[in-house]
Amino acid sequence: MKKYNVVIVGGGSHRNPDLMAMLASKKDVFPLKRVVLYDNEAERQEIMGQYGEILMREYYPELEEFIYTTDPDVAFKDVDFALMQIRAGRLPMREKDEKIPLVHGCVGQETCGAGGFAYGLRSVPAIIELVKQIRKHSPEAWILNYSNPAAIVAEATKRIFPDDYRILNICDMPIAIMDAYAKLLGCQRKDFEPRYFGLNHFGWFTHLYDKKTGADLMPSVREQLMAGEIFKKGSEDEHVREKSWVDTYNFMSTMVKDFPEYLPNTYLKYYLYPRHVVEESDPNYTRANEVMDGKEKDTYNMMKEVIKLGALKGTKYELDPNRGVHATYIVDLATSIANNTNDIFLIITKNRGCIPNLDSEMMVEVACRVGANGVEPLAMDPVDTFYKGLLENQYAYEKLTVDGFLECNKLKLLQALVLNRTVVDTDLAKVILDDLIEANKAFWPEFK
Ligand code: G6P
Ligand code: MN
Repeated sequence: MKKYNVVIVGGGSHRNPDLMAMLASKKDVFPLKRVVLYDNEAERQEIMGQYGEILMREYYPELEEFIYTTDPDVAFKDVDFALMQIRAGRLPMREKDEKIPLVHGCVGQETCGAGGFAYGLRSVPAIIELVKQIRKHSPEAWILNYSNPAAIVAEATKRIFPDDYRILNICDMPIAIMDAYAKLLGCQRKDFEPRYFGLNHFGWFTHLYDKKTGADLMPSVREQLMAGEIFKKGSEDEHVREKSWVDTYNFMSTMVKDFPEYLPNTYLKYYLYPRHVVEESDPNYTRANEVMDGKEKDTYNMMKEVIKLGALKGTKYELDPNRGVHATYIVDLATSIANNTNDIFLIITKNRGCIPNLDSEMMVEVACRVGANGVEPLAMDPVDTFYKGLLENQYAYEKLTVDGFLECNKLKLLQALVLNRTVVDTDLAKVILDDLIEANKAFWPEFK
């Protein structure tokens, strides 16, 4: 079996301990020769790197090489798979993305609305630069990108690298939602195959086909969601452990009651109920604060402890082989490509007529077969007026955001914000844009 070289781009991310544990747990189906962590911030990555060395030594002795570096010429040599999860501006800028719109009474969210717009304008140049660097050394590498805001990033990579079919943009939200459905159904996520349409963080499940019988399990999930709030704090699922995520999951019940045709992505809450979202937000303490005070701090403290102990095994930090690692979807995707198994994934990809009554250039999120030749979206029926209207509006926002960036055109950026359902009003859009420009000086070009 061929052994692969993997680089994790965004080496300091607090999600990497899970990702590395997952790579080690999948060595039978996705054997690796080399794992590299790459980040542009050495100090932060140092801790992750030292932790990773211990983890790999104990759990992946077969691995020939584990290194961490800030040198792209080292990191991107002979790569088979680049797993990209960067956060340009890190959590302090996420905090601004969330708080600035809230000051003006608009939704403050890292990927939706004006916050996602700001984040997009930081992510896009960073991702374009990274893809160029990877391509310089590894023209054939598969780039599995799950950096946010994925919709904007995908639109930009399509524009800049139109023929590069080895760049895949993917999001874990539908996977996490399917894990939650599986719990309701009393089965595993892999027991059913989804059908889904929309844009990233803006879509709907239409069917959940039982792999064995072909029966559609979607109506049963819908019935349960309609019966009331189902998710409880304390579940071991990555998301559902925290109160704010529990609330987000439970809000699916409200959405399904109002729009019972399909099962909504959790993120539709921000677009379809913006007033409710703003009312329940605390403009002084947002999700970024929760993550900085919680997950991120805990992860770094844990790693420092492990480094002091010099071991995971035999300590309380020992990896639990039974704990479901959320990040498996990334390796599942890589495995489907490496072994050409053509499994179904929800990928953000060019429509190409898959949804016949939508723009063929639209970067839709749909069910695709993924194998050694890339992504093949499954054909769908035309979408109804309500969904068509929502999607075309949202896609126009995404496109204008990318246009505005590529052309340094402030008018287009303003138009993007006015189209966004969480902003709408032009006077509001103008003041929010000015505030965001001020906050993002260190990251954005000058828009004219
Ligand atoms: C989901 C989304 C991601 C997003 C993440 C935020 O997984 O799919 O795109 O980055 O949630 O989670 P956090 O715990 O950082 O708020
Ligand atoms: Mn996502």
